[in-house]
Amino acid sequence: LASIEVDVAAVEPGMSLTVKWRGKPIFIRNRTEKEIEEANAVALGELKDPVARNANIAADAQATDIDRSAGEGKENWIVMVGSCTHLGCVPLGQAGDFGGWFCPCHGSHYDTAGRIRKGPAPQNLAIPTFAFTSDTVIKIG
Ligand code: FES
Repeated sequence: LASIEVDVAAVEPGMSLTVKWRGKPIFIRNRTEKEIEEANAVALGELKDPVARNANIAADAQATDIDRSAGEGKENWIVMVGSCTHLGCVPLGQAGDFGGWFCPCHGSHYDTAGRIRKGPAPQNLAIPTFAFTSDTVIKIG
């Protein structure tokens, strides 16, 4: 299947959902204000990977919080491939030193925008092609 549609109406702020797409887990998270603020407070110069890695925008876009999120007005939503960019383990949510995701395989810590902050992973968690088809439905792929 090329694409899937996911109803996120029941995903409250602070909650997340994992779905399967093309054999991979996709993390969908409705971030809290605090999580967005934390990600916005990080200077781009502090990032190990300064590239957004967002398939929906320019390939060289910077890894600002807005460009890691679902965009203007949907900043609370983040949609990512749940595959650690080190060797592909599935990171755990709401874990690690930066409150985002933590990969237990070799200790990679991702922040609340899914950006790699510490550990061996070289890149931010990848953002797949997706779009909101209504206020509460996300089409992935
Ligand atoms: Fe995630 Fe190695 S696979 S840290």
